[in-house]
Amino acid sequence: MKIAVSGKGGAGKTTLAGVMARVLANRGKKIIAIDADPDSNLASAIGIDEGSLAGVRPLASMEEFIAERPGAKKGEYGSFFKLNPRVDDIPERFSLTKEGVRLIILGNIPQGGGGCFCAENALLRGLLSHVMIERDEYVIVDLEAGLEYLGRGTTEYIDALIVIVEPGRRSFQTARQVKKLADDIGIKKVCIVGNKINGREDKDFIRENLQGFPVLGYISQNAKIAEADRRGISPYDIDETVRAEIAEIIEALEGPGR
Ligand SMILES: Nc1ncnc2c1ncn2[C@@H]1O[C@H](COP(=O)(O)OP(=O)(O)OP(=O)(O)O)[C@@H](O)[C@H]1O
Ligand SMILES: [Mg+2]
Repeated sequence: MKIAVSGKGGAGKTTLAGVMARVLANRGKKIIAIDADPDSNLASAIGIDEGSLAGVRPLASMEEFIAERPGAKKGEYGSFFKLNPRVDDIPERFSLTKEGVRLIILGNIPQGGGGCFCAENALLRGLLSHVMIERDEYVIVDLEAGLEYLGRGTTEYIDALIVIVEPGRRSFQTARQVKKLADDIGIKKVCIVGNKINGREDKDFIRENLQGFPVLGYISQNAKIAEADRRGISPYDIDETVRAEIAEIIEALEGPGR
């Protein structure tokens, strides 16, 4: 299954993606987790410590490597690029693994300034297409609210785009915007996970405001999740409740009627 997670800043994308990856890996599934947020922090939500991360550079910043790829030569601005660099060796060569979760960090593609970042773009988009289309692992992508990385050709392979929302109107607004973008690029299934839930009222508030969106489940407001973030560890490793809630979300995703 191929899953992308989006939502408003701070809504809980990384927490959901990281714990989901660990729950699935614990069930013996092979997982590729992709950190597509320029401000990368999926590693700690998976439980990869800072020591193991030291020296790991996001793919987007590896200019020498990108320039060497057949088909992705750097050139003068305006020059012609062949846009299908080789990517099939990247998941094995440039990833970290923890408890059965393989993490790939994409990083930030520089924007604007009149320069052409075609090679970087082609590589990262090519990599995403590759893992979505040709790999049989479970893939979970931690995205920002924009869906820039998801190009045409990839979207039809996404089984679900999960938009994580907090019980608040700004979060709902982002969910509607993401849904619109997703419709535009042809993602078939967009569903909601409610996070930072303090009780029945919060769940009702989400359902009332996001009618028409299937709701996969909820994650409670949970001091252990915040504690895990402070300590730079995965909530998966210290809290049974979040494990159980996210397991239920996975059930809803995989279950009948999906
Ligand atoms: N259910 C929860 N209970 C308490 N704290 C939470 C919960 N979910 C997330 N948090 C905290 O909220 C903050 C944001 O969570 P997270 O990093 O997962 O969100 P994000 O959507 O990935 O954010 P960003 O947009 O910055 O990437 C973190 O400090 C996290 O520990
Ligand atoms: Mg995040």
